[in-house]
Amino acid sequence: MVQLQGVSHRFANGTVALNNIDLNIDSHRFTALIGPSGAGKSTLMRVVNGLIRPTEGRVWVGEKELTRARASDVLRARRKIGMVFQQFNLVKRLTALENVLLGRLGYRSFWRSMIRAFPRAEVEQSLRILDRVGMADYAWQRADTLSGGQQQRVGIARALAQEPALILADEPISSLDPKSSEQVMEILRSVHEQDGICVLANLHFLDTVREYAHRVIGLKQGAVIFDSGVSNLSESVVRELYYDPAALDLSRPSLELAS
Ligand SMILES: Nc1ncnc2c1ncn2[C@@H]1O[C@H](COP(=O)(O)OP(=O)(O)OP(=O)(O)O)[C@@H](O)[C@H]1O
Ligand SMILES: [Mg+2]
Repeated sequence: MVQLQGVSHRFANGTVALNNIDLNIDSHRFTALIGPSGAGKSTLMRVVNGLIRPTEGRVWVGEKELTRARASDVLRARRKIGMVFQQFNLVKRLTALENVLLGRLGYRSFWRSMIRAFPRAEVEQSLRILDRVGMADYAWQRADTLSGGQQQRVGIARALAQEPALILADEPISSLDPKSSEQVMEILRSVHEQDGICVLANLHFLDTVREYAHRVIGLKQGAVIFDSGVSNLSESVVRELYYDPAALDLSRPSLELAS
C-alpha cells in the first residue's frame, strides 16, 4: 500500500527529520509508529500524505509514485488517504454532518464545493458513517459543542467519507480520556479489520500499541531502528528507542520506563 525508498527529508532550516527510510506498509497489519518526540513521526506521515515532498528518495501510495507526480495527481492520490489528527481539526462552526461531508470534497469540482451542494446520496452515506461511529444522534450539532472523544469520532467519520484505502492517524488519542481513547481505538480496529483499510497510527502509549497493533515501526532521529511484530517489542527495544544518554541520571540504579 505504502512504499518508501531511501526517503530523507531536510527542512529549510537544516533539520534532518527523516534519514534514509525504506519501508513497505501493507494493509494486512495494523501498524503503529512509535518513537520519542522529534523522531520524525509526523513528518513521515506528511510525506506519505504528499503534504511534504521529501528532499531525497521515492514514495508510492498504491500504484502512484507521489514523489514524481504532478500536483494535481498528488491531490487525486490524497483523497484516498484519510487523516486523523490529535486536535481533531474539525471546522468548529459546522455541524458534525457537515464536517463528515467535507470528506467528500476531494471528489467534487471546485464550484460545487463552493456552494456546498451535496447530493442526497452523500448526505445519507455520511449519516450512515456517523451512525457507525456512534455519532448519529449528534449529526446536527455544531462540532465545537462536542466533547473531545465525540469530535474525534467525527474526525474518523470524515476520513471514512473519503472512502480511503489508507488512514494515517497522528496521535489520535493523545488528547482523550481513557474511555474515549478506547472507543476511538476500537473504531480504528474495526475500520482495519472489517473494511480492510490500511491503518498507520502514531501512538504514544505502549499499552495501546500492544493491544491494537500487529506491527510496530520505531523511529529515532529520523531513522527506523525497529520494525517487527508487536510481540518483539521488548523492554530493551523500548529502552533503546526512548533512552536519551544525555538525560540519564547515572546515580539511579535502574531506568524506569513509562509505557
Ligand atoms: N516545518 C518544519 N521546519 C523545520 N523543522 C521542522 C519542521 N517540522 C518539523 N521539524 C523538525 O523535524 C523533526 C521531526 O519533527 P516531527 O514533528 O516529525 O517529530 P515527531 O516524531 O512527530 O514528534 P512529536 O512526538 O513531538 O510529535 C523535529 O526536530 C522538528 O523540530
Ligand atoms: Mg508528531
